[in-house]
Amino acid sequence: MPMNPTQIQLIQPDDWHLHIRDGAVMKDVLADTVRQFARAIIMPNLKPPVTTVDLANTYRARILAQLKLLDVDSFTPLMTLYLTNNTSVDEVRKAKLAGIAAFKLYPAGATTNSDAGVSDLKHCHAALEAMQAVGMPLLVHGEVTNSQVDIFDREAVFIDQVLEPLRKTFPELKIVFEHITTLQAAHYVRDATTAGKNTIAATITPQHLLMNRNAIFNGGIRPHHYCLPVLKREEHRLALLEVATSGNPRFFLGTDSAPHAKGAKEAACGCAGCYSAFNAMGLYAEAFESVGKLDRLEGFASFFGPDFYTLPRNSKKITLVKQAQNIPHELPLGSETIVPLRAGETIAWSLG
Ligand code: NCD
Ligand code: ZN
Repeated sequence: MPMNPTQIQLIQPDDWHLHIRDGAVMKDVLADTVRQFARAIIMPNLKPPVTTVDLANTYRARILAQLKLLDVDSFTPLMTLYLTNNTSVDEVRKAKLAGIAAFKLYPAGATTNSDAGVSDLKHCHAALEAMQAVGMPLLVHGEVTNSQVDIFDREAVFIDQVLEPLRKTFPELKIVFEHITTLQAAHYVRDATTAGKNTIAATITPQHLLMNRNAIFNGGIRPHHYCLPVLKREEHRLALLEVATSGNPRFFLGTDSAPHAKGAKEAACGCAGCYSAFNAMGLYAEAFESVGKLDRLEGFASFFGPDFYTLPRNSKKITLVKQAQNIPHELPLGSETIVPLRAGETIAWSLG
């Protein structure tokens, strides 16, 4: 690859962590994702959450109906189930047979629509054992929810209090540490020893590669830069950028694009979530280019995710062009609007 390419080609990427919601807004957000990605891991934090295979199947059918309206037949939603205190061993086995891609652990109260989340992992012992046995990955929102713990420390504390004990108890359980935000998480995943097969990976969002916590307070409060886990200090951003661009297959793309209507963000108690789907690949390209590692983007975006999930890599290619794209101030979201990441500014790379 030349030093400063003006165009790059890569195997079509997948998004290993995505919220597309439901109902009237779904079509609008899906339209942005399918321009770039071939597959996406669909988060189950609907209201009520997607806790069973039957609910996931009906959700998938609604997604496929929207894709049909968009005239898209080249996109595959990968469904997940929301782990609860009551998830049964039978449901895990049924999920495996039904082709469910993973279970998602939300500690109760950690984030948007997580009230039904797990209050203590001890309630999930049998379900986790079954996941390990059938080879069902567990995706974790890695933050403790104890209000005594400072919000900027919740991820690091989760590693010590939850993740490390979990991995000791279930050494063969495949775990994805989702949307990591700290140096501690980056180094934990990088340095984790696994017996034989690789059992640990992490996804990283574009906002955590491009912004630190100053972005939440730049000249005033910036609700569109508020997501969970919250942006951290610059040293953490640099550690994430380092591992994401290192070529280590344990780190791959997951946008965590999390749409909330403008009014729900610009409020006295605004929702958490950044909407990056509009041009997520352009944002990732900016991040990789900032450290001269554009040649590592394809592995991160297109190879390491399917390899971890033991799915085939995509074969189609996409092109990214170094051409600034103006990002609209607002986009349609059902009967409302949404403010995308970089609204009113530009993203340096566009889809060719
Ligand atoms: C997500 C959402 O809105 O569903 N929000 C977020 O800030 N990332 C939930 C989540 O992934 O934590
Ligand atoms: Zn998420």
